[in-house]
Amino acid sequence: MPTDNPYAALLEKLDLRTKVRLLTGETAFTLWGEEGIGLAPMAFSDGPTGVRGLKFTGGEKVALFPNATVLASAWNEETAREVGGMLAEEAERQQIHVVLGPTINLHRTPLGGRLFEQYSEDPLLTGKLASAYVKGLQDKGVGACLKHLVANESETLRNYMDSRLSERALREVYLLPFEIAVEESNPWSIMAAYNDVNGVAATEQQHVNNEVLKGEWGWDGLLMSDWFATKTSAPAALGGLDLVMPGPDGPWGEALVRDVESGTVPETVVDEHVTRLLRLAERVGALGEHRQWPATSTAPDAPERRAQLRRLATDGMVVLANNGALPLAADAGTVALVGRHGVETVCMGGGSAQVNPPYQVSIAEGLREAIGDRLTVVDGVEVRERPVAADPQWLRDPETGEPGVQVRHYDADGELLGEGHTDGASVSVGWDDDFPRPVEKVTIAARVAEAGRVQLGALGVGAWTIAVDGEQVASSTLVAEGYDPGESMLKPPSFTEEVELAEGALVEATVTLVRSEPRPAPNGEVNQLSHLIASGMGVKSLVARPVAARAEETIAAAVEAARTADVAVVVVGLTEEQETEALDKHTLALPGEQDALVAAVAEAARRTVVVVNAATPVLMPWAHLVDAVVVVGLPGQEGGHAVADALLGVREPAGRLVTSYPAADGDAPAWDVEPTDLALEYTDGTFIGYRGFAAGHAKAPAWWFGHGLGYATWDYDAAQVSGKGAEGAPRVEVTVRNTGERDSREVVQVYLQPAEADEPVRLVGWAAAEVAPGDSATVTVECDARLWRRWDEQAGKWATLGEGGELLVARGLGDVRHRLAL
Ligand code: BGC
Repeated sequence: MPTDNPYAALLEKLDLRTKVRLLTGETAFTLWGEEGIGLAPMAFSDGPTGVRGLKFTGGEKVALFPNATVLASAWNEETAREVGGMLAEEAERQQIHVVLGPTINLHRTPLGGRLFEQYSEDPLLTGKLASAYVKGLQDKGVGACLKHLVANESETLRNYMDSRLSERALREVYLLPFEIAVEESNPWSIMAAYNDVNGVAATEQQHVNNEVLKGEWGWDGLLMSDWFATKTSAPAALGGLDLVMPGPDGPWGEALVRDVESGTVPETVVDEHVTRLLRLAERVGALGEHRQWPATSTAPDAPERRAQLRRLATDGMVVLANNGALPLAADAGTVALVGRHGVETVCMGGGSAQVNPPYQVSIAEGLREAIGDRLTVVDGVEVRERPVAADPQWLRDPETGEPGVQVRHYDADGELLGEGHTDGASVSVGWDDDFPRPVEKVTIAARVAEAGRVQLGALGVGAWTIAVDGEQVASSTLVAEGYDPGESMLKPPSFTEEVELAEGALVEATVTLVRSEPRPAPNGEVNQLSHLIASGMGVKSLVARPVAARAEETIAAAVEAARTADVAVVVVGLTEEQETEALDKHTLALPGEQDALVAAVAEAARRTVVVVNAATPVLMPWAHLVDAVVVVGLPGQEGGHAVADALLGVREPAGRLVTSYPAADGDAPAWDVEPTDLALEYTDGTFIGYRGFAAGHAKAPAWWFGHGLGYATWDYDAAQVSGKGAEGAPRVEVTVRNTGERDSREVVQVYLQPAEADEPVRLVGWAAAEVAPGDSATVTVECDARLWRRWDEQAGKWATLGEGGELLVARGLGDVRHRLAL
């Protein structure tokens, strides 16, 4: 052990078994402590859009932030840092040491299910925002965790697929956000991805983990695995992985002890992992003198938190098109709000980024508060293909009468393990429960609040029966599909029956766990994931939802409301069926008959504004028929208020797109997410997103990365290279004039078009200014020298791009205002 290791004395107190034990989690989200050396157990929590806490479902109420693309669309490092600070406060309140975020994989193909959780398709924008977020968190002593290292841009077969890409693309594109964040913010931890990279598991990547991250970059943090991603003992321990998550079981333990005893893994390697763990512990206040958690903290629904979340959401909303219909004038008359997403606004995506918020404001509620009786609300067409868990507002606990359900857990002998009220209609079995004996059976009971025809059924693996007023009406045995426990949670098997229910009818769903033979994974192995899927654990939900009206009837009602109002606001979007972890999309088309709904309303209404409640690209075949389009993403718990502010111009929706929106399915530099023989070729090389569109690798997008109108118009009066900044990169000065009628924030973007024909155009810097109408501001953009590097594959090192080329001063590459020769 190097004598300069500050933890040498502590390591000496630990025997091999104890050290190895520390290197696998104790539970799903906590680590082992070790009193003898003053090590407290550390707690981790997922984090991109809120600090969920230690439970996957049904945990504490925590603040739900706008999703990552909304935050990123503000192109604002200051607010990214503010978000980090807010997340740190959320973490401290729950005594969490490390927040598992930010997610900084890139928007490579628009089909990626997890794009909503990632910042953008650009490595510089992503890296800079990530650095700010990390600083915000770590300034308050809470660790960040960059994830997922690396080339984890899609979800299909994510545990088994191999991302195949050139060293150039790896260095110049996919590692770059990690490199920037490591250099600028020194994140205390990083998460190794599920996938393989060029044939080697990310958890075993000698090249990425040891040579690049810990070697070249000199990073001294802790590298943990994604949950259940580690498949081996020696290759992972030797391949730079420091910590296996979750625990308590995993591939290290005794196997790693044996590997050390046999000499396969030198004990110094184990010491190095423990050293990094102790360093993290020291940084987050879990070693030696333990941190004091604040006695008071901002509640997730405190007025100041609400105000912050509302402002952050509006700042990232993007006005794509506007012929003057927005903002809605205070005296604009009546507004018809149409669409399922208006009534049930989707405020977050699916998967580990989900949290349990104190409330979520729908757009209908937000607008109602703002304009009162001038608003008419009409539900829209169905937007989901699969049944969803019952809306607790529609159910009453049979015991207490409160909204929600009553849940009972039983063991294999039929003994009651626990009963209680939950205000959702979902129960998690095996992950989050802390009963003394394993759960075998669960009942979910509720009375329905209204009479009507209802889809009644269940979601989740198990043998189900559903009874109404004591009489069985349906039963089914649901089994897990796929190869990913995440998939069976996020796209659970389901069944439903249509039944007529009287008001107050008692619905009781009973589910008994079904265990199956573990199935071999696509690579032929029966592994930890096979066992998890076969265990029958997971989320089980009651489905009880009024049968939806037919699309034609809904559209007719919407058209009628639109015809009689002064302006129609149609809210369309995606749901957690598309924007979720563990699954990818197959199309960018809006689900259901939403396109038909917009077209019909646009034809009937005097003016039509479309609000897109989705974080990632969708097709807008109706864009030419409407007066304005604004993308509001997944706006968090304050969603409806923030959208109302944006529409009414109380605050400018000042966002710029962080990803290009293709004009049609397939029209993108990278599209496919289906690996072939488990391999996914990154055929777009360094031409990711707008870089590929600009090079003509795909038909021009409908909306470019960087596009966003805000509520002003701008003249770019002058632009010049005014000198050189850090590392010799150009400094660009641009004078912009607000030619509109409102205060506005302009984001000046500078792209480099290198002289070399085979080099893609790329964002090299941006800066923003807030300017009053009629006023000008000179904006200085410091370009980033890291974008002038080219990875020389032959020499295996960085080279610098040749002289020449052009700088493009642009509002997205669809609107280039100046070209400056270099
Ligand atoms: C996700 C990670 C997450 C972890 C813990 C995994 O499935 O990929 O991003 O942090 O679960 O919830």
